[in-house]
Amino acid sequence: MANVKVPYLDLKAQYLSIKPEIDAAIARVLDSCQFVLGSEVAGFEHDFAAYSGTTECIALNSGTSALHLALLAAGIGPGDEVITVPFTFVASVAAILYANAKPVLVDIDPASFTIDPSAIEAAITPRTKAILPVHLYGQAADMDPIMEIARRRRLVVIEDAAQAHGAKYKGRPVGSIGDMACFSFYPGKNLGAYGEGGAVTTNNAEYARTVRMLRDWGQDRKYHHVLRGYNYRMEGFQGAILRVKLKHLEKWTEGRRAVVKQYNELLADCEVETPKEMSWGRHVYHVYTLRTSDRDGLQATLTAEGIQTGIHYPVPVHLQPAYADLAYGPGTFPHAEDAANQVLSLPLYPELSSQAIAQVADVARKSVGSKAPSVSHA
Ligand SMILES: Cc1ncc(COP(=O)(O)O)c(C=O)c1O
Repeated sequence: MANVKVPYLDLKAQYLSIKPEIDAAIARVLDSCQFVLGSEVAGFEHDFAAYSGTTECIALNSGTSALHLALLAAGIGPGDEVITVPFTFVASVAAILYANAKPVLVDIDPASFTIDPSAIEAAITPRTKAILPVHLYGQAADMDPIMEIARRRRLVVIEDAAQAHGAKYKGRPVGSIGDMACFSFYPGKNLGAYGEGGAVTTNNAEYARTVRMLRDWGQDRKYHHVLRGYNYRMEGFQGAILRVKLKHLEKWTEGRRAVVKQYNELLADCEVETPKEMSWGRHVYHVYTLRTSDRDGLQATLTAEGIQTGIHYPVPVHLQPAYADLAYGPGTFPHAEDAANQVLSLPLYPELSSQAIAQVADVARKSVGSKAPSVSHA
């Protein structure tokens, strides 16, 4: 793109808005020399558990590590099956393979882009151990029917909340609904570190104890390794930065929701489908994703006008070459496959100006035209 007029993300704008607090937090870590775990990370764990409505938070070095350790803490291993979706970031599925278990995929509900609860039961076998719903784009999956199936069939539920910090389901924060939940603090996330980061939240003290040991070489005390663990510890800098940023998260989420409201109004009569906030919860809009039958055309027009966009995700996991051995061919998950062909994410961050939003909407409107019959999900 020759001349970027509206970037997809602007991490610098957010840093500048809180620079003195961040710089002081970094200085605190330098002064203390607690570069790995330490008091800032412990403080963040305390604050993020409170924010998520859980008793426990274990800070890690990525969201992928969070998924891996949550699965291990649930006792999942070779021969076990875990149900999740093909329309997600690849880590949701990859982590199941890290645990040497088998990912069993089910299609999404096209309205919410999250797991279709009515498709779960048919995928359960005697080997199924867990359901891993993904709160995609910042919207909670429909957790009540998922939890009902899990309790009845004695399955563990691990929420993939990597994109959904602060999202709610029927008034409850995501991260507190399943048996464990996994967050990512990758820099572009709604709550982003200045490097890699992740966490597991849970109300189960035993799971928390296991995850805590596994992140630090399986030690129950120094150099006593009771489990075969990993080096998945959070760095001191990230804990200190996340602690500062968490205080601003609600304000930023409201900022995102205000941007979304403007986009929705400006695009209401255009030949695109704007994202739906389901009646069951609070969407935190990690991304603002439109659907349109001419996605590539719309993206090309926006690119030519200096507007950056993203596609989350262009190829569902079951059609990725690296996961061909899961043996799901094209056509297996029509809703996921349609979504992959139709979705386009517009620039979205709390600091995005009304002027920039209007500019993006204007170009989009000219590219797609006014509403004719709505885009089909089928
Ligand atoms: C849905 C989902 N799950 C898991 C992850 C993995 O998180 P991380 O990149 O921190 O390892 C991501 C991150 O992009 C994600 O979007």
